[in-house]
Amino acid sequence: MSEVQWQDRHLLGLEPMDTTHREFVALLEAAAAADAAGMSAALAALAEHTEEHFEMERRWMEDTGFPPQHCHKGEHENVLMIVREVRARVAGGESELGRQLAIALAEWFDGHAATMDAMLAAWMLERGHEKACAAEPAQA
Ligand SMILES: [Fe+2]
Ligand SMILES: [Fe+2]
Repeated sequence: MSEVQWQDRHLLGLEPMDTTHREFVALLEAAAAADAAGMSAALAALAEHTEEHFEMERRWMEDTGFPPQHCHKGEHENVLMIVREVRARVAGGESELGRQLAIALAEWFDGHAATMDAMLAAWMLERGHEKACAAEPAQA
């Protein structure tokens, strides 16, 4: 599906973020291609990933004092709210909404990755977090 696919312009140079973003886009592709029978499972996988993806970025932002974190977290919260709403409606029989969600999120991600995630990745790299905070041993 041409609207929903990985583009190398999404690469931001922070390896754990790039890996997570590839996974996110792959799950969007799966949801965009899912039929009515497979849509609930595709959205469940997407929702699980999205919670973890945003939680990882939230942790990085808080651990490093990323200045525009409220704005960034706010966008994530909106996406999570929409994903929950669409999952409920798909469970109620509106499976086409799942495909529309995947296409809308691919569009959203294009802008979000190029702005908020790009700023966060650059901020992390400037501070020497090539592998990101999660990979560092906890300080006693
Ligand atoms: Fe992200
Ligand atoms: Fe983000």
